Amino acid sequence: MAKVNPHYAKLVAGYLFPEIGRRVKAYQEANPSASLIRLGIGDVVLPLPDAVREAMHNAVDEMGTEGGFRGYGPEQGYEFLREAIVRHDFAPRNVDIGADEIFVSDGSKCDSGNIQEIFADDAQLAIPDPVYPVYVDTNVMAGRTGAADDTGRYEGILYLDGNEANGFCPSPPATGADLVYLCFPNNPTGAVATVAQLKEWVDWAKANDAVLLFDAAYEAYITDPNIPHSIYEVPGAREVAIEFRSFSKSAGFTGTRCAYIVIPRELNGRGPDGPVSIHALWSRRHSTKFNGVSYPIQRGAEAAYSDAGHAEIRTRVDYYMANAAIIREGLDGLGVKTFGGVNAPYVWAKTPDGVSSWEFFDRLLEKANVVGTPGSGFGSCGEGYFRLSAFGKKDQVEEAVDRIRTRM
Ligand code: MLT
Repeated sequence: MAKVNPHYAKLVAGYLFPEIGRRVKAYQEANPSASLIRLGIGDVVLPLPDAVREAMHNAVDEMGTEGGFRGYGPEQGYEFLREAIVRHDFAPRNVDIGADEIFVSDGSKCDSGNIQEIFADDAQLAIPDPVYPVYVDTNVMAGRTGAADDTGRYEGILYLDGNEANGFCPSPPATGADLVYLCFPNNPTGAVATVAQLKEWVDWAKANDAVLLFDAAYEAYITDPNIPHSIYEVPGAREVAIEFRSFSKSAGFTGTRCAYIVIPRELNGRGPDGPVSIHALWSRRHSTKFNGVSYPIQRGAEAAYSDAGHAEIRTRVDYYMANAAIIREGLDGLGVKTFGGVNAPYVWAKTPDGVSSWEFFDRLLEKANVVGTPGSGFGSCGEGYFRLSAFGKKDQVEEAVDRIRTRM
């Protein structure tokens, strides 16, 4: 038998969403007549924008012609898409990003999970808690941690506690670290960071020679005009930050798959003989392990930036945010303490009567037939909270709130 990666044995639980899926499946099998409303995993439900579909169709047709056929594409992504990204996501916010600093990929989950590979095995990690579990799990798999303690925290990670007192937006630690994961708008709490808060992080990263891994997958949901959409809106961030962006939640690409990562040329890491370009390392990794996103999908992503595509995306984002308001106001009306749901498609709520996150998950499932996500699945600071996703059909969201009101 081949020896396996021993670090996988340290993982305290299955990956959160398949784990939820297993419990929901078991419940559904035991209660086949229950009609479940799924507000657990943040998966979009509205169809792809017409402009996106049309561009994909045209690209498929093009691939069926001799002149339009394409084989392997550029690993970093087609220039037409990288330039559209610069023109639409960064230039309007006066952010100076070059098309050559963008790497198109098949998802932010993969990007935020893979990025750790280009850093040292003994890189010191600082990871907020609660947060998207991919950051922790992928570092555990890579052997960058010790075992987990009773609360599920792994030895070797510097956890940055998010709580009600700091608005789920932890400040930089007193000590240094090599890599810090930040996620704003935050999954799962819906918290956002101001320019001043991000500036604190950028200044801290510069002072500590750290790299910030900034996950902005939910930036399309920011409604407050004063909240930055990109870390590069903060002066100096080009020297210390990598940013992750995704078409999943904005243009409805969770099944279609397209995202990108920004690595500025100025960003360096520490090599044995001095500074090493992070862009060059990631480029080496990307071109060795990835052959690019398919041409029709990249044409679809490009069309998300057309006037028609943009308008259709706005309609979808507004639709989900109206759902978020229904959830937030519904729970508030029941006396449940809520957070988020204003600049993010997630409502984060305190479990009533101090019950644990998983206990509340079970109650919600059994009494209201509503699937949520237990806060503790995002880290030990999430214990005592749960998350409801706004990515549902409006009538289902209304029904879910109604069931919580009448059955819980
Ligand atoms: C979530 O529900 O947290 C997200 O859908 C997970 C993801 O984007 O991978």
